[in-house]
Amino acid sequence: MSEILLQIDGKDVVATEGMTILEAARTVGVSIPTLCLHEKLDPYGACRICSVEVESRGRKSVVAACLYPVEQSLVVTTRSEKLDRIRKSLLEMMLAHAPDSEQLKALAQEYGADLDRFEKHASFCIHCGLCVRYCAEVKKANALGFINRGAKKEISFIPEIAAEKCWDCKECFELCPTSALQAAYVLIEALASPADTDSPECGCNCSS
Ligand code: SF4
Ligand code: FES
Repeated sequence: MSEILLQIDGKDVVATEGMTILEAARTVGVSIPTLCLHEKLDPYGACRICSVEVESRGRKSVVAACLYPVEQSLVVTTRSEKLDRIRKSLLEMMLAHAPDSEQLKALAQEYGADLDRFEKHASFCIHCGLCVRYCAEVKKANALGFINRGAKKEISFIPEIAAEKCWDCKECFELCPTSALQAAYVLIEALASPADTDSPECGCNCSS
């Protein structure tokens, strides 16, 4: 594979063809935030929090570092006033869905995002797609998917599949940057078996 020489935040970087900017940045210790990326999944480009500025042949543009491939002589900036503004706005929109997400709150602090800029939405999902893609691509179970469009878009478990596959898995729970996933699963469980006497005990001292 041929070597690609580029610059990231002023550092000379030797990358290989096919690498993304994000991968190249990590080789030299430059950190770029991500929310919809997972090492077992192909990049998806949903959250755009990894936005960086690239300059190639005199033209500047903002691209998603997790998707954009390295190019010869590319000049990349991962942190600037403009990028901070973009990340701040993205975070403020996501926080309207998931105000209690620790991951989002930590990024909000880093980029000066206002936790209450936008009116709160009922859906806690930020549409990163991690759960849906992990379930389909890694677990090959397809137990959940997106429903609705636009602001109402959210994930939903498919009861028949979830009843069979999810109880012993739940690997997607820890991938979710918000509390959406666990809540959706609990809901589908409750709807599927409202008076399920076979459910495992909750483990606390209540009478359930
Ligand atoms: S439920 Fe969580 S993991 Fe799934 S798409 Fe929404 S935010 Fe991402
Ligand atoms: S991490 Fe690149 S778009 Fe989400």
